[in-house]
Amino acid sequence: MTELIIIKPDDMHLHLREGDVLKHVVKDTQKQFARAIVMPNLKNPIKTVHLAEIYYQEIKKNIEDLNFEPLMTLFFNDELNSDEIKKVSDSNIVHGIKLYPSGVTTNSKDGVDVIENCFKIFELMQKYDVPLLVHAESNDKNVDIFDREKVFIDRNLSQIHQEFPNLRIVVEHISSKEAAEFVIDSGDKVFATITPQHLLFDRNDLLSHGIKPHHYCLPILKRSEDRVAIVKAATSGSPKFFLGTDSAPHFRHEKESSCGCAGIYSALSAMELYASIFETENALDKLENFSSKYGADFYELPPNNLKIKLTKKDFRIPARIQVGNEEIIPLFADETLSWQLSEI
Ligand code: NCD
Ligand code: ZN
Repeated sequence: MTELIIIKPDDMHLHLREGDVLKHVVKDTQKQFARAIVMPNLKNPIKTVHLAEIYYQEIKKNIEDLNFEPLMTLFFNDELNSDEIKKVSDSNIVHGIKLYPSGVTTNSKDGVDVIENCFKIFELMQKYDVPLLVHAESNDKNVDIFDREKVFIDRNLSQIHQEFPNLRIVVEHISSKEAAEFVIDSGDKVFATITPQHLLFDRNDLLSHGIKPHHYCLPILKRSEDRVAIVKAATSGSPKFFLGTDSAPHFRHEKESSCGCAGIYSALSAMELYASIFETENALDKLENFSSKYGADFYELPPNNLKIKLTKKDFRIPARIQVGNEEIIPLFADETLSWQLSEI
């Protein structure tokens, strides 16, 4: 196959940040995606529907293509009461609540420490049918970084799912065999997003033959067998797995540092990368559902009217993106991919 026309996809896990960066990165995303679930982990996290509305307006102001729609989320916090959860459920712009164990990733210090203390809020979310999006990693410092996802699933997520069987859950950016298995084995309320990096790379691509700070993200890249399990899940045709890039821009100096930030910027080439992976697996026929249908179904949104074309053609990724005096280094910077996206 040398050409593929599909419904314009949705990115169900995206970091747009704020200020100057937002303007630059939203441009890359809107070429590839019609809508995106926007993560709430700003420096001042988006904790209320009111703040989400303000952030929504800020994003809208910076959008060139008016067809692009940001789908907002709230940062899980213990101030969420019945009124606020009902507001989320009634809102046309807020689509879920993202839970971060505290300190587990970028801008998550206000996250949750004791999951059991959240049960009243989960109960309300279940009642009002508000999706729970989870950064499923343990923040226990004694847990090995490569086991943090598995441990969170064993200690916390299984219990949440058991206690609240009708709560709709998205396990964000799955990175391990165990996470893929958990989603497959759980009831029909448990779903997962999958990033390009967790389909393409394992920890050798991060740590072998020199450390690659631009391949550092959380959850951290794991073993080859984990990658293989995630590829299998993504290309299986199961509606439980859908696209979420987790594209997360950080400035070059913040990544190439003695204490580098976690996050990979993939917005520039996301669909080209997913297409190469699905092609390798002989599963290009499953790409449209994974990218443009299952996520929309989960969030109870209609499919997009627009289409994109993916053509088998060399596509050179720029070496850097200039943001004022700063630079963002995109995934596969200065390298050539074998698919190219165009809008039709
Ligand atoms: C994300 C970020 O930078 O906001 N980083 C990352 O490594 N994925 C946060 C997140 O999704 O964990
Ligand atoms: Zn993320």
